[in-house]
This record gives sequence, structure tokens and C-alpha cells, in this order.
Amino acid sequence: MIALLSTSITYLGLNLSSPLLLGSSPLTRHLEPVLALARTGLGAVVVHSLFEEAILQADQGADGSTAPIDAEPSWPSPDAHLAQVRRLVQALKIPVIASLNGRHAGGWVRYARLLQDTGAAALELNLYYLNAHLDLDSQTIESDLVRLVADVRAAISIPLAVKLGPYFTGLPAFCRRLTDAGANGLVLFNRFYQSDLDMEALQVVPTLRLSNSEDLLHPLRWTAILSRRVAADISLSGGIHTSNDLIKALAAGATTVQATASLLRHGPAHATTLLAGLSAWMAEHHYTSIAELRGRLAENSAVDPTNFERASYIQSLRTWDLRSMS
Ligand SMILES: Cc1cc2nc3c(=O)[nH]c(=O)nc-3n(C[C@H](O)[C@H](O)[C@H](O)COP(=O)(O)O)c2cc1C
Repeated sequence: MIALLSTSITYLGLNLSSPLLLGSSPLTRHLEPVLALARTGLGAVVVHSLFEEAILQADQGADGSTAPIDAEPSWPSPDAHLAQVRRLVQALKIPVIASLNGRHAGGWVRYARLLQDTGAAALELNLYYLNAHLDLDSQTIESDLVRLVADVRAAISIPLAVKLGPYFTGLPAFCRRLTDAGANGLVLFNRFYQSDLDMEALQVVPTLRLSNSEDLLHPLRWTAILSRRVAADISLSGGIHTSNDLIKALAAGATTVQATASLLRHGPAHATTLLAGLSAWMAEHHYTSIAELRGRLAENSAVDPTNFERASYIQSLRTWDLRSMS
């Protein structure tokens, strides 16, 4: 008898038909690609972010004062953003997760509530931040970000996921502070876009390189370290391009897995391919539910991960030595 196979999971308290999510991206600016994606069996859609800077710009415009210099003039207004989230919520049968993107506590946080009012099932708060101040230490930065999370948590009653950058010195402790402040989920990780140098024009050139499967290794490691240690669902974001990537992320302990670059590159049909590959692998390896697979390769919470990671590091270097000598 063939056992029935279920890919349904619970993420942030939401029942989803599959663990694959569309990560926050410009795809949600238009209805058509998202409707096509929703037909592939995707579990939920994360909307492109509403930025702190866009809200401040609109607020300052309303005051009659000038926009801050780091604001992007071509941003749609926050009201247009809310209207688009509302449109997505009405058009889709799968949950829509709104996204707010900023780094300072302040009045702009009221938009968390306005995003909730669109009917979004949950909110993802992206804490994109790269510190370049010599006088700002990591403790201060983390405390500011935790305060922002607490403010957003206080403004809404829907589930809250927090999307983090990959470079925090004390990531596990910071994650615990975020969950203590009310984060129900952690999205690992935000992708930092790098600037390059054009040596003919002698200019800094912003670059947006889409990820590939190699970029999975960093979020995969942290998902494996944290998934049994934090009191929050982990959603892995970064480097999901093949079914194998998706399966690895689940085995490391991710509750959901977000794909962005691969869906931007290949379109909605790719989500069908990813999910078909997951189902085929589960059937071949006799898994009947995601729960049986999830966390199979997560690190044991009883083992000190620091020693384990250092031992793995030393072992990797030694393996390379032996290979290069043979
Ligand atoms: C063109 C583009 C736009 C993006 N816009 C957002 C955004 O508005 N908010 C956000 O949280 N992440 C945004 N991201 C980041 C993705 O959601 C994702 O975290 C990142 O691309 C890593 O996943 P991937 O390797 O599957 O692309 C964007 C990524 C791309 C490529």
C-alpha cells in the first residue's frame, strides 16, 4: 500500500500546505506572477517590503518639510503599498505575509498595525542594518533592534517573524533576545548586497548578484545550530535553487524555506519543480510528513555547538591537506 504523503506544516501558527514560501521580492508588485505562483502549491507569499525610509519620506512630505537624503524618490507611497498588500490578500487563497523593513524605533512603526489591517496573516520585520559607526558598539545596536521588535510586537496581534542579517557576533544570544521581545519566527538570513568598484570611472557601483546554491551553506549551518535552541520557527532564506537545497534546509530544522532568486530567474514553474522534487525524495526515502524530515540533521541542543563547529572547521582544513597531497 502506498502511504499518503503530506507536505503541510504549521509556521507562525499558520497552517500551510507546503513549507516553500516566495521570499520577499519585487514579484509581489504585480498580481499575475503571484497568482501563477500560488497555483504551484506554494505555502505562503512574503510581500516586498515597506521601508522605514519611504514612510519617513511620506511623513515629511505631509509636514511640508524636505525628504531625508537617504530616501528613494521613486518609492510608491506607503498608502499605495498598503493597497497592494490588500489586493494580494483578496486575490490569493494562501496566506500573505506583509514585510516591514527598518532599523530605528519610531513613529513609522504604526505601519505594522496598518499592514495587519490589510488582512495579512503575519508580518515579517526585516532588520537590514550595516553599522559603519566607530562609536556604536554591538551591544547598543542589538538593544536598539530588540526595542524595535518589542515596539512592533506591541503594535500588532498577528504573528511576527524577524529577518536578520548574517553577521552578528553573538547570534544565538541575540536570537533569544528577539524571541523574548515577541518574535514568533526568525528568517535566516537577509542578503547583504555588495558594492563593487569601477576602476575606469573611479566610482562605487552597487551590485545585485542573485544567489546560487553555494549561498545556502551559511543559513544552513545557522539553521542547524539554532533550530533546536530557539523558541521560534526558523524560515531559511538564501540559496534555495534546487529540490535538494529545499530538502537540506528542512533536514537542518527550518520550518519553512523561502525562495527568491530562483523564482525570479526561472519563474513560477520552478516552484512546481522544487515541490515535485521534495515529494519524490520523501516518497523514495519513506517519509510521509515534513515533521518526520524536519530537523533530522539539526545539531543536538545538548552538545556545545562552539566546540562542534571548531572541530568541523579543523577537520575541513585537514581534509583539504590530505586531498591536495595525494
Ligand atoms: C531583487 C530583490 C529584491 C528583494 N527585495 C526584498 C525586500 O523588499 N524585502 C526583503 O526582506 N528582502 C528582499 N529581498 C531579499 C530576499 O527576500 C531574500 O532574502 C534573498 O534574496 C536571499 O534569498 P535567495 O537566495 O532565495 O534569493 C530581495 C531580493 C532580491 C533579489
